[in-house]
Amino acid sequence: MKAVSAEVRDAAQALASGDLIGLPTETVYGLAADAMNPLAVAAIFKAKGRPANHPLIVHVADASQVPKFASNVPASAQKLMAAFWPGPLTVILPRLTGVADAAAGGHATIALRCPSHPMALALLHEAQCLGVQGVAAPSANLFGRVSPTTAAHVRQAFPSLLVLDGGACEVGIESTIVDCSRTAPVLLRPGMLLLSALSEASGEVVTMPSNAPHSSHDQAPAAPGSLASHYAPQARLRLLNAEAICQQLPNAAVKVAVWARFTLPNGVAFKHVLMPSNPAECAHHLFALLRELDTSGAQEIWVESPPAGPAWDGVRDRLQRAAH
Ligand code: TXA
Ligand code: MG
Repeated sequence: MKAVSAEVRDAAQALASGDLIGLPTETVYGLAADAMNPLAVAAIFKAKGRPANHPLIVHVADASQVPKFASNVPASAQKLMAAFWPGPLTVILPRLTGVADAAAGGHATIALRCPSHPMALALLHEAQCLGVQGVAAPSANLFGRVSPTTAAHVRQAFPSLLVLDGGACEVGIESTIVDCSRTAPVLLRPGMLLLSALSEASGEVVTMPSNAPHSSHDQAPAAPGSLASHYAPQARLRLLNAEAICQQLPNAAVKVAVWARFTLPNGVAFKHVLMPSNPAECAHHLFALLRELDTSGAQEIWVESPPAGPAWDGVRDRLQRAAH
């Protein structure tokens, strides 16, 4: 086994002592604590300003940890974990009674994910050696605000937090969440994994929530990531097609920053950034760019609507919520 760096060791010790840390993952940075320590988990909710009944994702070092949290692992979940872990996939499973109650927000299910970021994996293994079986971590932003994709973003929100710097997050938007606690798997939050790939890997048709059959856990929470308004910058964000942007921009009464896949003549917009035409690249830049445009002095951010098609579902979802 590779030697663990001093910073990872310190962070693992902080988790084992019940402290919070900033955790780099391949999706976004997390605000992390020992999932089995109710006081540490309460500190996450307090720091984020998140309602205590909104459950957290528990991060594990590998799939062998799953039976410590889940009472039952259906075949579909097993196949999904085998296909996508470590990686940007969270599975919801029925929860073992009495385990990680606070992290689960008191719900009968538990969200589990094994991240692929090497520093996150090193930390999870090291923490496990110190008795931490799982690490609860929501995105490390204040409730409702833009998710962090660099260590600097985390420090802006939580200046005194110990943050592991793992560089800019590769994926850039949060994990895909599949609920495997129901009779058939349901996609609760789109990310960068395609619905068709999830269905193929799980051996079942993964459906969108609106098409899902009734769940045995229907008291399942309104997921914060699924609230209509989330990921919001301070400036008003509008999603518009290219034609509407070109038509309305010359008459705009406020300073407008534009993120679009076409170029604009100089001086028409207060600020203009070219949007990548590839969804993965777009996701990678999305949250950092919203922050940058938000602090540019622009009063509104106009974003060109992503193209149709499932490859853009994750990016479209985040932009629609940011615009709400
Ligand atoms: O990529 C990610 O998933 C990041 C990184 C840090 O791993 N984490 C993240 O956590 O996005 P958070 O707390 O911002 O979003 C967790 C989502 C929420 O929408 C929450 O409601 C949902 O997971 N969730 C957690 N437990 C759940 C459960 N038992 N049933 C349904 N949804 C659940
Ligand atoms: Mg979040």
